[in-house]
Amino acid sequence: MNFFDIIEKKKHKKNLTAEESDFIFGEFAAGNIKDSQMSAFLMAQMFCPTDKEEAFNFTMSMVKTGETIDLSALSGISADKHSTGGIGDKTTLILAPVIAALGIKFPKLSGRGLGYTGGTIDKLESIPGFKTDLTSDEVLRITEECGCCIAAQTDKLVPADKLTYALRSEIGAVDNQTLIAASVMSKKIAVGADIIVLDIKYGSGAFMKTRTEAVELGALMRHIGEKAGKKVSCILSDMNVPLGINAGNALEVFEAVQFLKGGDIPDLYSTVSKLAVEILMHFGCNAKQGLAKFDDVIKSGAALQKFRQMVKLQGGDLSRFEEKYYTDDFSGCAAILSPHKGKIIAMDTEKIGEMLIWLKAGRSTKTDSLNYDSGICFHRKTGDDLLPGDEIGMVYYPKGYNEDEVIERFLSCFNIN
Ligand code: URA
Repeated sequence: MNFFDIIEKKKHKKNLTAEESDFIFGEFAAGNIKDSQMSAFLMAQMFCPTDKEEAFNFTMSMVKTGETIDLSALSGISADKHSTGGIGDKTTLILAPVIAALGIKFPKLSGRGLGYTGGTIDKLESIPGFKTDLTSDEVLRITEECGCCIAAQTDKLVPADKLTYALRSEIGAVDNQTLIAASVMSKKIAVGADIIVLDIKYGSGAFMKTRTEAVELGALMRHIGEKAGKKVSCILSDMNVPLGINAGNALEVFEAVQFLKGGDIPDLYSTVSKLAVEILMHFGCNAKQGLAKFDDVIKSGAALQKFRQMVKLQGGDLSRFEEKYYTDDFSGCAAILSPHKGKIIAMDTEKIGEMLIWLKAGRSTKTDSLNYDSGICFHRKTGDDLLPGDEIGMVYYPKGYNEDEVIERFLSCFNIN
């Protein structure tokens, strides 16, 4: 078998066998297939119809290129979650301690953000001292002790995905269902949790632009996970509007803490509680019982206590983090007021994502440095009525930025009529 046999098949829109799939991903990870060749393969794949078995083969071939984590040392059943990324998506920060407080283990390996969908690891690193580069043993020890741990994915886990994803970003081959499903599920299977819950986003700020595409992607990922012996559930969420109030690394941690303290943030509540309920349904709860359990661990403070414990075990200082917020120690901050009377007809989440990168709250390339403090608070969202001068939001921006430009960019993300 060689690369040209494979590209020939792809040129004719044929699906690869398991052996061919092992060859292309294995040889690429081993450095025996050049980036130019792999790019041709990936672009050809973009024009092939989605096939469930091929997506499963790609997933398992990628898993084989790296290490896997053995969670059998943990007592009890473990759950994991993946979101396909969205503006203001801080659900992992809340779900991890909630699930731990419910007695289910939640060892989570996350990535750093690339593009406008921020990474959970970047968010947590805005807490002074918080360590995300942990060994597998440390992840297991912390999870066993407090029920949850959120650490950075190492380069040894699914190296074929890391290399392939970098190429896909460079050549515009990210938004393909087979490639996304295999990329996400290979990492979930390598980590090895028994239950996987997926949050598939759709809308302007998401890879899947329509709900129908999101449903298809969810079904494909579920097929892959179940064939690999996992219990998989899936929720869909609308990314035409940012999730919650804040977008930006430290701002999102702060919002997650407020939520765990009982803060009323309806859309965030809806998404996180659905994810928790999906996990609890695998333990025999119905939706009503699951929601009651979710509410209990928030109301009792048990989930907040788990979050504090996890931060402490990972070296972070949450009190120092919170003090900073109460003293408003930011580089620059602009309140954005409505220029006229009207209604917010729509928010352009993709454009908001681009603004977050401009603010250095997200990265456009992997080497970009971040400003943890910068970001946006949305005080009004789609559907809200405005009077002239009403505060639509607040933007925290890095030193040296021009306030007028900050305001202009923010307002250009809104359609107010
Ligand atoms: N997230 C991933 O991990 N992989 C993709 O392909 C897209 C989003």
